[in-house]
Amino acid sequence: MSKVTVVGAGAVGATCANVIATREVASEVVLIDIKEGLSEGKMLDMYQTSTLMDFDTTLTGATNDYSKTANSDVVVITSGIPRKPGMTREELIGTNAKIMRSVIDQVVKYSPNAIVIVVANPMDTLTYLVHKTSGLPKNHIIGMGGALDSSRFKCYLAKATGANINNVDGMVIGGHGDTTMIPLLSKASINGVPVSQFASKEVLEDAVQKTMVGGATLTKLIGTSAWYAPGAAVSMMVESILHDQKKLIPCSCLLDGEYGQKDLCIGVPAVIGREGIEKIVEVELTKEEAEKFAASAAAVHKTNDVLREAAGL
Ligand code: LAC
Repeated sequence: MSKVTVVGAGAVGATCANVIATREVASEVVLIDIKEGLSEGKMLDMYQTSTLMDFDTTLTGATNDYSKTANSDVVVITSGIPRKPGMTREELIGTNAKIMRSVIDQVVKYSPNAIVIVVANPMDTLTYLVHKTSGLPKNHIIGMGGALDSSRFKCYLAKATGANINNVDGMVIGGHGDTTMIPLLSKASINGVPVSQFASKEVLEDAVQKTMVGGATLTKLIGTSAWYAPGAAVSMMVESILHDQKKLIPCSCLLDGEYGQKDLCIGVPAVIGREGIEKIVEVELTKEEAEKFAASAAAVHKTNDVLREAAGL
């Protein structure tokens, strides 16, 4: 038996609940939102797909009643305002930090042993906020960004090289921001063969650039933030936790000396299993990648400074 709560019944939260349910990643999914009836309605609709999609996950909707989330193994926090076209993720900080603070208190009250996955933006800084305010152990707090950014990177690499999408391997580390993320070309491969054998430097650089603005591209097209890939990225992480798969997933972790950083949540590859973040893996970076990582860390530190002021930390 395993229980997952998804906080926020917007597009990302509902998609996340849907992927977890239809893949039977957990035996129960609770979707909770402050808007009266929204999560109950979405879960009822989803429940009515059970016989069509062949799953029997228990689905519960809750309007702001956190007692229904009690004893969750994993809690995913998507609540917050999404970015609109032209906005950066960082601009959401004031509003979303307030929402995060009220949510995290309720989450911890009812599920003190849960592993929390932070999805709301600015994701690295809100993950840091959860570290500072929740009292949860550090291996139980994970930010989602790198898993999503890496899946986008793989798509753009598949297009750039003409390779089968499922033969592509690639990883994005650093901050989950348009200018702070670092798609690691040096580690990208087509089934183990370096991508440089399949496309020119210019074509690969273009894939990197497209990955970095991947979220903004979608925001411009759709008019609001994306949800299919974010929802699926969360489900993949939840599955690695609940099924103790120990997948190596780039995600936002609190660093304490790793990659030369301290007191900072930022995307790095980590082994994700039943204990949450089980190991942070320090991969060898090229000189250029290491410089980019240091600049990315400095930018995330800056956003954390804004948070400290806004949230009175
Ligand atoms: C994105 C949001 C979820 O990148 O940050 O689409």
